[in-house]
Amino acid sequence: MMKFSGYSLAVSFSPVGSTVIRNNCRFHVGRNFRSSSRFFSAKQQSHDKGVLPNYYLPPWFSVAPMMEWTDHHYRTLARLISKHAWLYTEMLAAETIVYQQDNLDRFLAFSPDQHPIVLQIGGSNVEKLAKATELANAYGYDEINLNCGCPSPKVAGHGCFGVSLMLDPKFVAEAMSAITANTNVPVSVKCRIGVDDHDSYDELCDFIFKVSSLSPTKHFIIHSRKALLNGISPAENRSIPPLKYEYFYGLLRDFPDLTFTINGGITSVDEVYAAREAGAYGVTVGRAAYNNPWHILGHVDTVIYGAPSCSLTRRQVLEKYIVYGDSVLGKYGRRPTVRDIVKPLLNLFHSAPGNGLWKRKADAAFRHCTTIKSFFEETLVAIPDSVLDSPVVEPTPGRRDLFANMDSLLPPPYTTREEAVIICA
Ligand SMILES: Cc1cc2nc3c(=O)[nH]c(=O)nc-3n(C[C@H](O)[C@H](O)[C@H](O)COP(=O)(O)O)c2cc1C
Repeated sequence: MMKFSGYSLAVSFSPVGSTVIRNNCRFHVGRNFRSSSRFFSAKQQSHDKGVLPNYYLPPWFSVAPMMEWTDHHYRTLARLISKHAWLYTEMLAAETIVYQQDNLDRFLAFSPDQHPIVLQIGGSNVEKLAKATELANAYGYDEINLNCGCPSPKVAGHGCFGVSLMLDPKFVAEAMSAITANTNVPVSVKCRIGVDDHDSYDELCDFIFKVSSLSPTKHFIIHSRKALLNGISPAENRSIPPLKYEYFYGLLRDFPDLTFTINGGITSVDEVYAAREAGAYGVTVGRAAYNNPWHILGHVDTVIYGAPSCSLTRRQVLEKYIVYGDSVLGKYGRRPTVRDIVKPLLNLFHSAPGNGLWKRKADAAFRHCTTIKSFFEETLVAIPDSVLDSPVVEPTPGRRDLFANMDSLLPPPYTTREEAVIICA
């Protein structure tokens, strides 16, 4: 029988957490966003560590790592909307960190507002992964995650890294041991449920069994579809292989001592709630959190973390984002540009009145606006005040029954294969 957690927000919302929420209710008067919104260097981070909260709520909800999407700007927007969502960086190659030692702030620095934040690294060389982890320590990430799920030919091609690593669990275990030895924060692996023909439930279990037995890794984020390395694009690899949530729930049943976070195809807060109710420890949402940040992230603190609502509006978010944007504009010579900084906001008015006109005005404004403030002064006239000044509305109902039939779909229980045990002996 599948184990249902009987999860209830009312009882699981810890007293510590409620204190945090009361004390840190988003954007309290007196919180000086201007001073905290610049990029922080490693030195500033360690200085600030003393005052940073060490009581984040658990990663029940996280925004997935997404190359070119979950950059510092998107994470700033996400944090303005949700106080508690865990935020992943884009994947950063260990080689980049190691070879850019004189330029690390550019790749690794983040504003303290972005805690809790997970650094995702990728690589296929144990020494470089270890060194990259060591170099990242000074920045104070809250978790280090190894990418074992990316099918991009640039990454996975030629047996490089990303999802190809799923075919070499001994290497992953070695890498995770090295990463763990070089950091004091929790570590995790993000993977798919299989690669090409290596897509049976038992093969997935062998991977999890070997990595968790041979290394200190106890937390896996499972993108619940396999990857195809037959030349289809990364985007197609996120839609063509079917989702098999039953594999995820099979892992929960067969590895009760490990922690699993579900990922893939979850598009509403109702579905996040349903996944947790069915036993998932955490839920990682990617595209939906990027394509519709207001409606997804706007409900995370209340629906998932049980925080009181604090009637945030998009106008308030924009006011703070504009201050942030102008403080970082051109920080690295020509970059970031107005377009770089505005990019994550292009979905803020998803399906709201005025969105189409706003997008057209934005296209024109990109050609000549030189500040974020002037960009919004010119374009926001397209959005009605009623949209700008309303708090987030009730979530659109999602598929609450998405995981309802899992019990009947579960694969046969995993029995550790002799070969797997020998490798781990
Ligand atoms: C533009 C884009 C870039 C991505 N880059 C990464 C990445 O760097 N590392 C990673 O582990 N997954 C990456 N992913 C995959 C997502 O983390 C996630 O696993 C996938 O989108 C499925 O979740 P979703 O259906 O909620 O979007 C990326 C996805 C997108 C859309």
